[in-house]
Amino acid sequence: MKTIVWILGLLAAFSGVACGADLGACPDAATYAGALNEQGVHRGQDLINGACAGGTCHSASANGQFRFGAPATLNFDLSGSDPGVVAAGVDNVRNWASHMWHEVEGGSMPPEGTRPALSEQDKDDMRVFLACGAERLEPMAPDPGDDPFLVAHTTLDATCMGCHDSSISDTAGGGFSMGTRGDACSMYTAFVDAGPANCDGTRMIVVPNEPTQSLLVAKLDGVNLNACGGLMPAGTPEPFINQQPEAVEALRSWIASGALKPVDCP
Ligand code: HEC
Repeated sequence: MKTIVWILGLLAAFSGVACGADLGACPDAATYAGALNEQGVHRGQDLINGACAGGTCHSASANGQFRFGAPATLNFDLSGSDPGVVAAGVDNVRNWASHMWHEVEGGSMPPEGTRPALSEQDKDDMRVFLACGAERLEPMAPDPGDDPFLVAHTTLDATCMGCHDSSISDTAGGGFSMGTRGDACSMYTAFVDAGPANCDGTRMIVVPNEPTQSLLVAKLDGVNLNACGGLMPAGTPEPFINQQPEAVEALRSWIASGALKPVDCP
């Protein structure tokens, strides 16, 4: 029922029935620069990517039920490894800017339950990014050093949290939390403290020293997946290992060397 309500909302939102809202002014350069985050991108850019795209809904990688009714090509991906997908995301964000702001300002996007609600500050950051022409900047990945978990985290954080962030409804991520977006320590804890998997109630997400027994790896390379649900990201047309081999390799090596806690984590 909820899905139907969303779909109706989306149709109304993007059929041209709803008018765009006034984006207001783009602030001066110094104010704009003050809203860049630690990855060197405007907070509004990061929020649009995370709250609208991020693996579900308005993401090029999201299919079927994981679009939650979002029209097929209306993708707002502003990060990712495929330059074509990102370029299309920027175009869409620019073309739909005032419509996006209309939905966000009025609180109908993101639909309740699919993403954490946006604060007034979040909304204003989005508005400013849109009002200033959606000038996307390339995120600078934090230097993971040589910790394989942190190397893998950078990719998983960008790819999986649209469904597995702890604040998102259980339906999106099958009840499996991977911690909080942007927080590597919370992902570490979520993996090692996960307990038996939901899929069969026995397999462990991470078995230290044993990558081939760890369900996390099986979900990404398809080996030993047995009857434990589908490949991740859910709805993916091909195994993640073909798309991001370095990330899967880093996860395997982290597990093989004992699934150690990153040094900076409490
Ligand atoms: C589009 C939404 C979506 C995305 C994106 C996604 N997942 Fe999932 N994930 C699910 C759903 C739904 C389930 C439960 C069904 C299943 O296991 O196939 C699930 C299950 C899992 C499980 C099994 C949990 C258990 O206890 O059985 C793991 C592990 C997992 N995902 C890891 C990942 C990783 C790692 C990524 C990123 C590479 C990812 N997922 C991206 C939706 C998603």
